[in-house]
Order: sequence, then C-alpha cells, then structure tokens
Amino acid sequence: MVVRSILAGCGGYLPQQVVTNNDLAARGVETTDEWIVQRTGIAQRHFATEGETTSDLATKAAQAALTQAGLSAHDVDLIVVATTTPDNVFPSTATRVQAKLGVTRGFAFDVQAVCSGFVYALTMADNAIRLGQAKTAVVIGAETLSRLLDWEDRTTCVLFGDGAGAVVLQAGEGQGDATDRGIISTCLHADGTQYDHLYVDGGVGSTGTFGHMRMDGREVFRHAVQRLSEVVDEILEKNKLAADAIDWLVPHQANQRIIDGLAKKLHLPPERVVMTVSKHANTSAASIPLALNAAVADGRIQKGQMVLMDAMGGGFTRGAALVRM
Ligand code: ACO
Repeated sequence: MVVRSILAGCGGYLPQQVVTNNDLAARGVETTDEWIVQRTGIAQRHFATEGETTSDLATKAAQAALTQAGLSAHDVDLIVVATTTPDNVFPSTATRVQAKLGVTRGFAFDVQAVCSGFVYALTMADNAIRLGQAKTAVVIGAETLSRLLDWEDRTTCVLFGDGAGAVVLQAGEGQGDATDRGIISTCLHADGTQYDHLYVDGGVGSTGTFGHMRMDGREVFRHAVQRLSEVVDEILEKNKLAADAIDWLVPHQANQRIIDGLAKKLHLPPERVVMTVSKHANTSAASIPLALNAAVADGRIQKGQMVLMDAMGGGFTRGAALVRM
C-alpha cells in the first residue's frame, strides 16, 4: 500500500466585478473585442474591487472547497497558496488565509511559480502528505493580477483577470498504480534563462517598486505549445499511459489558441478539454483550480475519472499533474 493525496473537494471564487473587452475599450485601452477574442478567446474577466485582497479571494475559495469535501477548517493541517500577487511581501498570504479560516495548527506557506504555481503547490502538498507531514491540505491558487497590469500596455492588460480556486487533499491509501484515486504523478520544470520573456519590471530587491507585467507575447506563444506538450509527454510516459487514458485535460487558461494547439498534439477532442479562458481570462495560479471547479460543479468531471492538469509561466516554469478524481 502507498499513501495517496485524495482530492476530497474543490472550490472557486471570482470577484463580482465583470469587465468585458468592450468595457476595457470604453476605459481607454486601445483595443477591440474582435482583436482580443480572435487572438486569445477571452471575452471577459473579473477584477477585484478596491480593498479586496488575494487572501480574501483565496479564503472564499478554500471555504467552498472545504464545504464540498464535508470538512471543517479545524481538520486542516497544511495550507499552500500559489500566488504572484501576495497581500504583503511577508508574512505569506497562506498565513493570512490560515487566520481568516480560523486554523491555528499545522503549517502554511506561499509558492511563487507564476502561472505554473498551482501545479507546483499541488506537488509540494502531495509530497508533504506522502511523507506523513500533513493529513489534510488546502491548496489554493489565488491572484489579484489586475494590480500588476500597465493600462498603457495593450499587449498585456487585456489578457489577465483576478480570482481564486482551491482543492482539499486528504491522505488516503492506494496500491501504487494509476488505478488509485488521488494524485498519481506530478512533474515540474523551470528554465530561468528565459526570465526576460515574461516578468514584472520591479521588485523589493531591485527597484524598490512593485512594477508592471512585461511580456514578449510572440516568444511566449512560440515556446508554450512545445514546452507544454513536453511535460504532458513526460508524465504520460513516466506512468506508462497513452493520451486516451486522460478523461479530461484541465490546462492553465492563458490563451485558447495555446490550449487548442496542445489538445491537437494530444489528439484530445475539444469535448474533453475544460476551457474557461473566455470568461475568466488568464488568472495565473488560479486558472487551473477555477477550471477544475467549474467542470466538477457542472457535473462534467466525475469521480473515478483521470484528469491531467498542465501549466507554463514566467521563468518558464512548467508542470503537469495526473489526478484520478
Ligand atoms: N488590441 C488591438 N491590437 C493589439 C493589441 C490589443 N490588445 N495588442 C497588440 N495589438 C496589435 C499590435 O500592436 C500589432 O500591431 P502592428 O502589427 O500594427 O504592430 C498587432 O496587434 C499584432 O501584435 P502581435 O503582438 O504580433 O500579436 P500576436 O498575434 O502575437 O498576439 C498575443 C499577441 C495574444 C499576446 C499572443 O502573442 C499570445 O497569445 N502570446 C502568448 C501570451 C500568453 O498567453 N501569455 C500568458 C502568460 S504565459 C502563459 O500563461 C503560458
């Protein structure tokens, strides 16, 4: 028998303010709905209101996931928050969420791997559970990315949104193969030599400001499908699975064209790909758990099915996770 991290529940939270592409144009961004939809598939995004912080969104998503799992905050002994937009430089947003949930035991920390953050956080929580360091973990991807956007840069400000998604992991038992329920396998990569293609031009340790998002969109796009399909191939090969073992692809929601390209490479029909980018835009670390939550909530993803999550982000972090629901 082996220890498995069973996905006991998931939840999501989107701020109430919905901003359409036309709203952005009306606010003075030199763009059109047609351009954004055609290049990215994005039709709208949610933005946090003033005073609404990443930990506020994260806490609501965590509460929803705990409710779905039938657990209370008192059961939680690990909280991992993946975010690029923490409430403060320190303490971690995870400790803020811990306090808001009323949890006083266990441990809590943030993970910063930008758009791959959720897969990284899920991997860290899975490792802790399999090592016996935690029994019930809440893993959250949460972002208020709107605060990093430069409204004068139309090549980036139309692409991102705010939100949070969460899953509850519980220690369980399996026989050690891909028929088990829970996290079957994860893989992570990074390539810091590509730092300058997607970054924020500020920081406490460099400029003393928090800066704005900068991206060489073409270069990111050029790398994305190739590098994402590499991690998918790696995780399938490692588990001796073919692509048809995947019931659902729940990819990072950056751009519809990137997701379509990946699904095509995997020969996965669009009906088996969860797509929320049109409504949420790119919510970075929050995008996978938000998409997962949407497809569980509407009954598409069912218990026992195999889900493949994959992501790529700044620092050219990449990752994939295979999870049997
Ligand atoms: N509205 C209208 N026109 C625009 C806009 C806009 N918002 N942004 C750029 N343009 C114009 C450009 O100025 C340019 O005009 P020009 O030809 O007169 O110079 C024209 O549109 C084409 O610009 P490109 O940058 O070449 O457009 P491209 O087809 O590459 O699409 C995009 C840009 C959508 C950013 C694309 O490169 C992309 O999707 N890249 C991937 C980026 C991504 O998803 N990043 C997310 C983070 S990483 C991750 O999560 C995987």
